[in-house]
Amino acid sequence: MTNTRLNSISVVGGAFGDEGKGKVVDEICHTLINRFDKVIVYRWNGGSNAGHTVEIQNNKFILHQIPSGALIEGTTCILGKGMVIHPGDLISELATIQDNGNIKTNIIIDEMTPLSLDTHRAFESSLKKREEGGSGSTGRGIAPAYADIIYRHPLRMRDLLDKNWKEKFEKHYLLYKSLILGLGDDLRKMQVNSLSLGTLEVGDKTKFIKKISQQRDQIEKYIENVYDLVKDNWNSKIPFVFEGAQGVGLDPRWGVYPDVTASDPTPSGIFASTEGIVNPETIEIKANVYKATYTSSVGKRILPTKMDEKLAARIREDANEYGATTKRPRDIYHIDLPALSYFAKVSMASHIVLTHLDISYPDTPIKVCTHYVNKKGDQIDYRPDQQFLHGAIPIYESFKAWNGNKIKNSTIINDLSPLTKKYIKFLSQSLNLLPLMITTGSKRESVINSNYLLL
Ligand code: IMP
Repeated sequence: MTNTRLNSISVVGGAFGDEGKGKVVDEICHTLINRFDKVIVYRWNGGSNAGHTVEIQNNKFILHQIPSGALIEGTTCILGKGMVIHPGDLISELATIQDNGNIKTNIIIDEMTPLSLDTHRAFESSLKKREEGGSGSTGRGIAPAYADIIYRHPLRMRDLLDKNWKEKFEKHYLLYKSLILGLGDDLRKMQVNSLSLGTLEVGDKTKFIKKISQQRDQIEKYIENVYDLVKDNWNSKIPFVFEGAQGVGLDPRWGVYPDVTASDPTPSGIFASTEGIVNPETIEIKANVYKATYTSSVGKRILPTKMDEKLAARIREDANEYGATTKRPRDIYHIDLPALSYFAKVSMASHIVLTHLDISYPDTPIKVCTHYVNKKGDQIDYRPDQQFLHGAIPIYESFKAWNGNKIKNSTIINDLSPLTKKYIKFLSQSLNLLPLMITTGSKRESVINSNYLLL
């Protein structure tokens, strides 16, 4: 039997990312720091493709590579080996939170974390012109950076500190120049995304090396061998919050191609990122985050539960359903229990966090897809395969909706009507997950916490 490591929680996107994990992690860290002196926040996957939003008073922070726990004093935020990090974007992000006087955390980057560079972004956009698989990416060079690991030539954080760093980065530049030339493009002239400076030209090797040289000076102090730090703290009672990026539905094994990312958004990614120190089975609470009344996604994937455009447009406007990183409008689906319970299963979830509970209109019942059937009427499972999903027919159950405006920003369970409580209970029972937290708006304090969730 596996022992439970008390005071540990993982927060995973239960669907296709953008569920509101940033705010959830912020709230969990807030609660924990009031009880303990120290909290470790560990991010194990993704890179600047993520967009985790936290709204504090009138400031809106969209964090990409730095964990959301960074906005809370007393946390130590570790950027783990399972991530891929773009140094330029990281510097911009650090500057944004520093400018606002909000850097109250200790940030540490695992020296083993691979780099995702402008070369990867350029290669991704070159590929995008030729293949379907790249068409839905966020343009942040995530997949090529992870592919470098498989191809056995990743550049890692510690390469920035190496005495031969220049040679290594020159070699990398020349490799990508050739790859891109093979695809018919000129790396020097390619335009790539950057977090704060818009689109930039990659430039020649000299320009590339100069940029890296400036970046290494600025982030050197954050790079460490984190193995003992993670191990010692994991073997103590200090709380750990594992912050996931993206969502289970974007996992390359569990998602629908081509709209998948390259990293492991499930807790199993924690095992590899911590080099086996943290067995995810021992994490006390494995929380999956879902939007309470609908599901959103970006890409070509079509679930059987697509909502009619009139209601979808209303939700898109009210819930600002535009990608935090790319600003792309998101597709809106009804709650799709076959898909969501599949994601809960493959990510070993134990608890549920429901966000956006305020998106509910009294004049419009909430349609929940309870199961799929095939053309013959036989019940079928969700499978991560678009061709299969085209043949799935959703069967719905309707729930009476509540007035979302009335509970907007509510913090107390008693504000929820019996109707709302019944709905939450139905979802958590159907997904076989224990309720942990509910959010009722985008502001930091708009949360109903687990202590009150006696439904
Ligand atoms: P990539 O991660 O940039 O390679 O993008 C691959 C797929 O994952 C695309 O469909 C993206 O829109 C999606 N994606 C990547 N990161 C996120 C995220 O943080 N939230 C939502 N979708 C994401």
